[in-house]
Amino acid sequence: MDLKSQINLDKLPKHIAVIMDGNGRWAKKHGMPRVFGHRSGVKSVREITEAATELGIGYLTLYAFSTENWNRPKGEVTALMTLLVETIKSEVKTLNKNNIRLQAIGDISKLPPRSLKALLKAIDDTKENTRMTLVLALNYSAKWEIVNATQKIAKQVESGEISAENIDENTIAQALETKDMPDPELLIRTSGETRISNFLLWQIAYAELYFTPVFWPDFRKKDLYQAIVDFQQRERRFGKISEQLTP
Ligand code: IPE
Ligand code: IPE
Ligand code: MG
Repeated sequence: MDLKSQINLDKLPKHIAVIMDGNGRWAKKHGMPRVFGHRSGVKSVREITEAATELGIGYLTLYAFSTENWNRPKGEVTALMTLLVETIKSEVKTLNKNNIRLQAIGDISKLPPRSLKALLKAIDDTKENTRMTLVLALNYSAKWEIVNATQKIAKQVESGEISAENIDENTIAQALETKDMPDPELLIRTSGETRISNFLLWQIAYAELYFTPVFWPDFRKKDLYQAIVDFQQRERRFGKISEQLTP
């Protein structure tokens, strides 16, 4: 039986998040510059977005650029930002055709003006789409997000809008970049690294983690299916014991 037909469509994760890693090592393996790896990674983005949409996943979040990634060599950062503008501009048509809404999380105000402009336009041009939400994490870090959320909440307390005692999980969730999105149920990281790298720390509190040695530019539909099949075989107990779970 092929992998796709092993997927139970009634038990899909509502939200899948991906740490797309390994572009540089993939390029090196092929004797090419790192930027070639990033360019090749765009093909995987297209393919995984298409696969997730076809299956009926509600949210797909892709970690594209972390706040820490500014520390890379200047040439690589510039190349990544250029690739971002080019890709976003060329993909809007397909996003609209496939009824996909684009959103972004992260401190996008710090992106180069050209990248920001292209991003905001694409978000606006796709805002009515309803089939799937594709979220790009750009200049994102979970610690930045939590600091930012804390400042927002502190201001609400300061202005008397809410009281400190009334702060609950929902107050925090609503102050995060991901407000109104379900938490990721499945987090995939490619390239063999088994770390989180400052991604969605609050939101992945109960996510299933899936690590694969495949480098991002080699990650194809079958690899996503494999991750989902694996996810569906796990028992999500949420603190309970096996016997308490409804089948
Ligand atoms: C992921 O691939 C892409 C970004 C972080 C932008 P890397 O560029 O981190 O690739 P490796 O980890 O060096 O192989
Ligand atoms: C994480 O990958 C960030 C993105 C995928 C955008 P990195 O390659 O930057 O992660 P570390 O620094 O090796 O943990
Ligand atoms: Mg990396």
